[in-house]
Amino acid sequence: MPKEYNIAVVPGDGTGPEVVAEGIKALEAVSRRHGLKFEFQTYPIGGERYLKHGDLLPDEVLGELKDMDAIYLGAIGHPGVRPGILEREILLRLRFELDLYINLRPVALLPGVHTPIKDKRPKDIDFVVVRENSEGLYTGSGGVLKRGTPDEVTIQESITTRKGVERCLRYAFEYCQKRGKDKHLTLCGKSNVLTYEFDLWERVFQEVHKEFQDVTIDYQHVDAICMWMVKNPEQFDVIVTNNMFGDIITDLGAIIQGGLGIAAGGNINPEGTAMFEPIGGSAPKYAGLNIINPLAAISAAQMMLDYLEENEAARTLLNAVKKVAKNHLKSLEAGKMGYGTKEVGDLVVSYL
Ligand code: IPM
Ligand code: MN
Repeated sequence: MPKEYNIAVVPGDGTGPEVVAEGIKALEAVSRRHGLKFEFQTYPIGGERYLKHGDLLPDEVLGELKDMDAIYLGAIGHPGVRPGILEREILLRLRFELDLYINLRPVALLPGVHTPIKDKRPKDIDFVVVRENSEGLYTGSGGVLKRGTPDEVTIQESITTRKGVERCLRYAFEYCQKRGKDKHLTLCGKSNVLTYEFDLWERVFQEVHKEFQDVTIDYQHVDAICMWMVKNPEQFDVIVTNNMFGDIITDLGAIIQGGLGIAAGGNINPEGTAMFEPIGGSAPKYAGLNIINPLAAISAAQMMLDYLEENEAARTLLNAVKKVAKNHLKSLEAGKMGYGTKEVGDLVVSYL
């Protein structure tokens, strides 16, 4: 009997549906080869549906998603919807309600891929960011007084809990140990200014470290990390950080690994479900033109296989992505690949 997985598919907006279609094509090909079976259930949530029907993330959908083995997301974002609505009510709501408290973002330069950092090779850019995904500035806590007047006051609160920090750090140590590269974990913070928050992070970092004596650790400020990610990215193995800093440094990470055409991430509840996505967004100007790069979405599918512990299948898919990036694509950028979206998907399948 093949192993069967129930996957919720949220193609979403803009280029989301196009890239997700290629990811599913790749998953189906890899499952034939490795004797797996995927049941895909599509959920039409996103900006398009919001504009037509006025609903965002219905409770019954949320309930169904909770029971899935994983969620495969294209992109949420629509030029016709004011910024903040879809993000908060769909993407962030999924992260919070499903308690997807880890955002895992690998930064790896694949062979043959262009990086804007001169003289850096794949061996130099190969690290993973573990971003706390359920707290900090993302909780939406705060408010505004006297809006639109000269006396306006806004408060945006950053919430950090002992439990939230500890579970994130424990995941990062375990992940670093299992990854087995340098077994080196860097805490990225701002302890010189955010003295309350990073005092907590640092204390728990030291404490949890005692359980992982084979992992070496260091601490770096977020501003300095931005500099080192460009100058000496080879020093990093796993970086763990809070929600906001993780958001920012992973865009820098995406660009040094070759851009949004390849960057993928996973929103994970290690005790529950998980959601995988290309981190590029809905790119409405490229939608429907068959020019967007599907490799990021295919890499997200590969991360999903890893999460499902289908490691062989994940390896097969990763190798196929590597071969396509190295042997075929002129560039990873939309419209400059030398192939269309579907053709890139077909190339990946040809190596499976
Ligand atoms: C990301 C995105 C989201 C975030 C936005 C769309 C809310 O930038 O996944 O990195 O800030 O987390
Ligand atoms: Mn981001």
